Amino acid sequence: MHELNRKDQSFIWHPFTPLTNEEKPIVITHASGIYLHTLEGRRIIDAVSSWWVNIHGHSHPDIAAAVASQASTLDHVIFAGFTHAPAIGLAERLLTILPKNQRRVFFSDNGSTAVEVAVKMAVQFWRNKGIEKKKIIALEGAYHGDTFGAMAVGERGMFTAPFADMLFDVSFLEFPDSTREQSVVDQFRRWVENGDIAIFIYEPLVQGASGMRMYSADILNELLKIAHSHDVICIADEVFTGFGRTGKHFASDHVDEHPDIVAISKGITGGTMPLSVTSCSDRILDGFRTDDFSKTFFHGHSYTANPIACAAAIASFDLLTTDACQQQIGLISKMHQDFAAEMSQHTAVANARTCGTILAVDIKTEEGHSYSNALRKKIYPFFLERDILLRPLGNTIYMVPPYVITKDELNVVYNAIRQFADNV
Ligand SMILES: Cc1ncc(COP(=O)(O)O)c(C=O)c1O
Repeated sequence: MHELNRKDQSFIWHPFTPLTNEEKPIVITHASGIYLHTLEGRRIIDAVSSWWVNIHGHSHPDIAAAVASQASTLDHVIFAGFTHAPAIGLAERLLTILPKNQRRVFFSDNGSTAVEVAVKMAVQFWRNKGIEKKKIIALEGAYHGDTFGAMAVGERGMFTAPFADMLFDVSFLEFPDSTREQSVVDQFRRWVENGDIAIFIYEPLVQGASGMRMYSADILNELLKIAHSHDVICIADEVFTGFGRTGKHFASDHVDEHPDIVAISKGITGGTMPLSVTSCSDRILDGFRTDDFSKTFFHGHSYTANPIACAAAIASFDLLTTDACQQQIGLISKMHQDFAAEMSQHTAVANARTCGTILAVDIKTEEGHSYSNALRKKIYPFFLERDILLRPLGNTIYMVPPYVITKDELNVVYNAIRQFADNV
């Protein structure tokens, strides 16, 4: 065993990994574009953008330069009572692409905390207004992160079971897939008509972690309209879907009705620095515009609006909004569509679907879909042996590549998926 692996095994506790796991993690020495380079000299295609963050590929020179320059200028400063150009520049840029009603941004440092901030903001909004509304609606199958509030608004299951008694109550609406759209809308209307619903939180168009489950923009639009007609605060969790993943800057851009609060992270710095943002509309700000000190939003993190992270995010934003990047997003989306159409005819495939740069292929299985589906144990090594990183969600093979991937490289991954389906 290499010394790095020996030390890794002695000193480190990895996420989502049993401590007794016998497989040693692969040591990565450097990464560039879509490739991860291993200690043994292998070059692995990062077809999942390393947990969906590296939208421009790894070690992008523009982002690296912005980070280096910022690190030697202003590394960090407390963000209460102080401010700085990178945070201001980033906020200004983000508000040009966020849904039109979004007015201000609040910084934190990962997707879960962006969601915590969103939920706390909405809960306190009602309290500040003196209105007794606390009920929350989320979607079945939701994943909003691993902190307590984020767990509470997510699907309860294996991940949250140890904490089940400690999570606040949430009503979970059936997932509005194409077989039950109307019944879900009717159920939602019945719930909000009671007048006591405070918050509706959702992953717009695609539920990532629960298996890249997709639902229609029309249905989402309808749910948002119903929610707004009953004064419910709508929180769009765009942590995964933001920054071009669904073909537009945000999944919320596919619907007319705007969310009141938006949580974003993942692609924000192009996978270089931890950062997240919770933005909100004037309506939310109104709940906090008061001289009553006790109604302040008392929330913040040591690294709030870290200047190096903000500089990385500005560089990433400037890349995202180039024509070249937008064309790549269009190309990937088109190629995914053609490939999904082909795969949906395959006898081993239960369902193949796509939304923008997201491709998902469910392999048929007796077991039914779940994160712990046994097929996972076959899928992951199959692709890794072929130098492709695809980390399946149970029996769902999915791909969310960095936008710099080329046609040929996409075809390498598609061919491997074909080969898996042919031999499963
Ligand atoms: C929709 C969504 N929200 C929140 C999170 C949590 O983000 P993080 O892992 O950065 O805490 C995730 C992570 O996968 C996510 O997909």
